[in-house]
Amino acid sequence: MYSLALVVCAVALSHSALAVKVCSRPPQVLFATIDVDKSVYEVGEEVEYTCRPGFVPNNGQRKYTCLPTGKWPLNTLLCLPKRCPTLGPLPHGKIDFVDLHYQSSINFSCEPGYNLLGTRTSQCMADGKWSGSLPQCQPVTCAPPSLPEFSVLSFRRSKPGNVSHFLDTITFECVPPLALIGNETATCMANGNWSSIPECKVVTCPTPTGIENGFLEFVVRRTYHYNESVSFGCQPSYVLEGPKHSRCENTGNWSTKPTCKGPCKIPAKKAVVLYNGEKKRVQNDLKDGIQHGETVSFFCKNKEKSCAYTVPVPCVDGNLTLPACFKERGFFSSLMKKDPSDMKPCEDQE
Ligand SMILES: *[C@@H]1O[C@H](CO)[C@@H](O)[C@H](O)[C@H]1NC(C)=O
Ligand SMILES: *[C@@H]1O[C@H](CO)[C@@H](O)[C@H](O)[C@H]1NC(C)=O
Ligand SMILES: *[C@@H]1O[C@H](CO)[C@@H](O)[C@H](O)[C@H]1NC(C)=O
Ligand SMILES: *[C@@H]1O[C@H](CO)[C@@H](O)[C@H](O)[C@H]1NC(C)=O
Ligand SMILES: *[C@@H]1O[C@H](CO)[C@@H](O)[C@H](O)[C@H]1NC(C)=O
Ligand SMILES: *[C@@H]1O[C@H](CO)[C@@H](O)[C@H](O)[C@H]1NC(C)=O
Ligand SMILES: *[C@@H]1O[C@H](CO)[C@@H](O)[C@H](O)[C@H]1NC(C)=O
Repeated sequence: MYSLALVVCAVALSHSALAVKVCSRPPQVLFATIDVDKSVYEVGEEVEYTCRPGFVPNNGQRKYTCLPTGKWPLNTLLCLPKRCPTLGPLPHGKIDFVDLHYQSSINFSCEPGYNLLGTRTSQCMADGKWSGSLPQCQPVTCAPPSLPEFSVLSFRRSKPGNVSHFLDTITFECVPPLALIGNETATCMANGNWSSIPECKVVTCPTPTGIENGFLEFVVRRTYHYNESVSFGCQPSYVLEGPKHSRCENTGNWSTKPTCKGPCKIPAKKAVVLYNGEKKRVQNDLKDGIQHGETVSFFCKNKEKSCAYTVPVPCVDGNLTLPACFKERGFFSSLMKKDPSDMKPCEDQE
């Protein structure tokens, strides 16, 4: 009897022990660790997940309790990589990246003519910060051109200061009377060299020749040095067009010389014209014609409206063309009719 009771009791005990459920290992969460790691958990036991360094939890639950059913509740936790802040800008350079999250890296580079000062690459670290510090792009410098001592060639910087950077320019000069052959200005290039360095040479020009209908002022028969200049003049009634001076150029040639433009005779025997705003008789006042560049206006008649209008014509290097509407008057018509210059001006004329 007693022993039976014992057996029943033992059976009941062992039965109840068999009925108590346990949880197995909780589900793994990517990039997370759990505080208590074992293979069996009792009902009511709690585990807590922690995201690994460099990862942050989403707003899912981090603590879970083993349920009486022997199951863990639905796991809602996600561990996401930290995002490092956007960097830059990098003046005169660029930052290359595909991703800004933990463990990704970015590259720094500079434009041509700029040198990178600092690290070429940086990693997004577990603390959500970039390794190292932002580098700098510094302009390439060009050393002053190496010229011999007492050189006939000298230079000056176009910007103040004693250092030349990428794209800065310098201007060269030769000691007179030497001529500069080559490019007067040089640019500091991306490779740290100057684009070009000119030379100084003796240059002479032959005795200049004269110009048609004009003359050279005070010219001596000799060779001329670079940058010497001579002046030109024109014969009376001719007009100088172009630069008055010509310069001995570094090619050994004279710069463009002026030309002398001739006067115009007025191709009408008798006419009253407008010249410098005044009425003039061609046969008396303008016997010598007009100079190149000047203008005379002829009077033409409008028969229908019996009025007169003026047509200006220029003198172009000895050529003056009468306007088609101008009629030279014969002896009788000048007696019988009014000259167009005495008629009333047409109203629609500007
Ligand atoms: C950074 O540079 C490395 C080495 O040149 C290259 O393999 C990598 O693809 C670059 N990364 C980016 C984001 O451009
Ligand atoms: C440029 O000039 C400054 C002061 O004018 C001087 O301190 C510096 O050493 C000079 N640098 C060079 C490279 O000559
Ligand atoms: C002189 O060099 C500069 C660059 O420094 C260039 O821009 C310019 O065109 C050159 N001039 C001539 C006449 O070659
Ligand atoms: C710079 O010029 C020097 C002398 O002319 C030359 O030897 C050198 O190769 C040049 N450097 C570059 C990067 O072109
Ligand atoms: C050429 O001469 C003029 C004066 O006639 C002077 O102003 C100029 O600087 C000279 N140019 C050169 C390159 O020597
Ligand atoms: C003078 O200029 C011409 C073309 O304008 C050229 O052919 C000639 O070589 C130049 N003379 C000199 C000495 O450079
Ligand atoms: C002037 O006329 C002549 C002959 O008619 C002609 O050859 C010349 O080109 C003209 N000049 C101008 C500047 O029109």
